[in-house]
Amino acid sequence: MIQILSSRQRRAARLAWRFVRPYRWQALGALLALIVTAGITLSMGQGIRLLVDQGFMTQSSELLNRSIAGFMMLIVGLALGTFARFYLVSWIGERCVADIRRQVFDHLVYLHPGFYENNRSSEIQSRLTTDTTLLQSVIGSSLSLFLRNALMVIGGVVLLFITNPKLTSIVVVALPLVLAPILMFGRRVRSLSRQSQDRIADVGSYVAETLTQIKTVQAYNHQAEDRRRFAQTVEQAFDTARQRILQRAWLITLVIVLVLGAVAVMLWVGGMDVIAGRISAGELAAFVFYSLIVGSAFGTLSEVMGELQRAAGAAERIAELLQARSEIQAPCEGLQRLPARASGALALDDVVFAYPSRLDQPAIKGLSLHVSPGETLALVGPSGAGKSTIFDLLLRFYDPQQGRVSIEGIELTQLDPLDLRRHFAMVSQTPALFYGSVEDNIRYGKANATAAQIEAAARIAHAHEFILQLPQGYQTHLGDAGLGLSGGQRQRLAIARALLVDAPILLLDEATSALDAQSEHLIQQALPTLMQGRTTLVIAHRLATVQNADRIAVIEEGRLIALGTHRELIAGNPLYARLAQLQFGL
Ligand SMILES: Nc1ncnc2c1ncn2[C@@H]1O[C@H](COP(=O)(O)OP(=O)(O)OP(=O)(O)O)[C@@H](O)[C@H]1O
Ligand SMILES: [Mg+2]
Repeated sequence: MIQILSSRQRRAARLAWRFVRPYRWQALGALLALIVTAGITLSMGQGIRLLVDQGFMTQSSELLNRSIAGFMMLIVGLALGTFARFYLVSWIGERCVADIRRQVFDHLVYLHPGFYENNRSSEIQSRLTTDTTLLQSVIGSSLSLFLRNALMVIGGVVLLFITNPKLTSIVVVALPLVLAPILMFGRRVRSLSRQSQDRIADVGSYVAETLTQIKTVQAYNHQAEDRRRFAQTVEQAFDTARQRILQRAWLITLVIVLVLGAVAVMLWVGGMDVIAGRISAGELAAFVFYSLIVGSAFGTLSEVMGELQRAAGAAERIAELLQARSEIQAPCEGLQRLPARASGALALDDVVFAYPSRLDQPAIKGLSLHVSPGETLALVGPSGAGKSTIFDLLLRFYDPQQGRVSIEGIELTQLDPLDLRRHFAMVSQTPALFYGSVEDNIRYGKANATAAQIEAAARIAHAHEFILQLPQGYQTHLGDAGLGLSGGQRQRLAIARALLVDAPILLLDEATSALDAQSEHLIQQALPTLMQGRTTLVIAHRLATVQNADRIAVIEEGRLIALGTHRELIAGNPLYARLAQLQFGL
């Protein structure tokens, strides 16, 4: 009981209260129903006493009728009260968890990307599902179970004393003897069943991982190894389950022997009193009823306590998520706004930046680069040079440790990230598609685009032709992450999406790398008209793209090592000349 008040649980209770508070009237109704039903259950003992003493013992059918009528009324009251209690309590549980899930998700989508580098998204997912489910079971049942059984224990003990103080003293002394072994076994069963659940989760995740990678599994003939490992996982799960079942079987046996044995002893002592005329048979019946209620309520309390403790842990993890602050935010003071349409002047000045997960190894080491409005700049350089990182900085997914990144002469930290990003359209190195139709995927960045606009964008990206060949054209549904399309098709959808947004700055990160030379050529042909009046940064490995650019920036190991036109660089920069020779076959 004292554990209930530990500081951790107080914090959990505060979180629960924060979410329950909007529904306090429902909670009050539930509490009333709970008190009423507990009261009725307890008064049932008196009903039994009357039934036995007045009906059966006096052999009077008149009295029996009246007792049964009273009993029936109690039953109706109990039924209605239980309906209200169950409905309201479960409703509050489901409602709060729906609110918690929404609030946590609303919070998560605004968190800075760096947050997800230190926190595996699978773990966050599990917090959103398992932890909230646990909270739901606590708010939606355990808490009410706890209150109900606490009332039962208190009320039951009081009534026991009123009914028969002598027998009660015997019960109070014997109760711990009966409950201690049952509680002990119960605790062991619970911890084993938790382990059992974990094992089953292991089985599930193993299956999921193997099956989603089934082509790799079969290509490497890894099946036998997988069978062996999976068998091991399953057998472990079975083993845990077997231990749990064994303990549980013992528990049931113990309950029968101890509880029924205790009832027998009570009946014996009480029966003697009845024979001697010291108490009535009804009193004895009521007494047995109350002691059973107190005993079972005590047992339930101990079980619920474990659940409440687990929920406290879950609540804490959820609270932690809600407390995580986004490091990428609009400034508290000195907020600047960009014009309705930015001209597209970008600048990096002496920027030094290391990813949060690798602080000792900067990805950008003192880089300055100025892009004028309307210019097309190509970024070239070896793999891992820091090209994609420059895009991350321009979109302010991260803030640099030194130097400044600015747009229209305004440092990015002076802007609201939402205001900043609305001027960018980006095609990332790994085209990101979502579960949904082809049309939904193109419309992603511009919710109100018309079908005609979508088609126009798809035509420029050379996606229109292949989309028409899909079973339902633009309405074709894609699986998770655009499953069911080739790499090049995905890229073309991603380009169409970026073109549709019609932003003044276009960032293309190897957007055409998976396309055949013909398609790429066609897109390249279309791009110049499109790039008019826009600032475009392209990361590319192919000559066609690079040659079209106004200037080329050569990046190596996080530094800008050369800047100029293709012609200038071929003549003046050995690294570029070598890259050009290797990659463009010049
Ligand atoms: N999220 C990250 N956390 C830590 N380090 C990262 C992260 N992303 C990239 N890096 C590291 O930063 C450096 C620059 O990476 P970046 O992705 O910018 O290279 P790139 O020039 O785009 O290469 P590629 O041509 O292969 O796409 C690399 O050394 C890479 O390992
Ligand atoms: Mg890259």
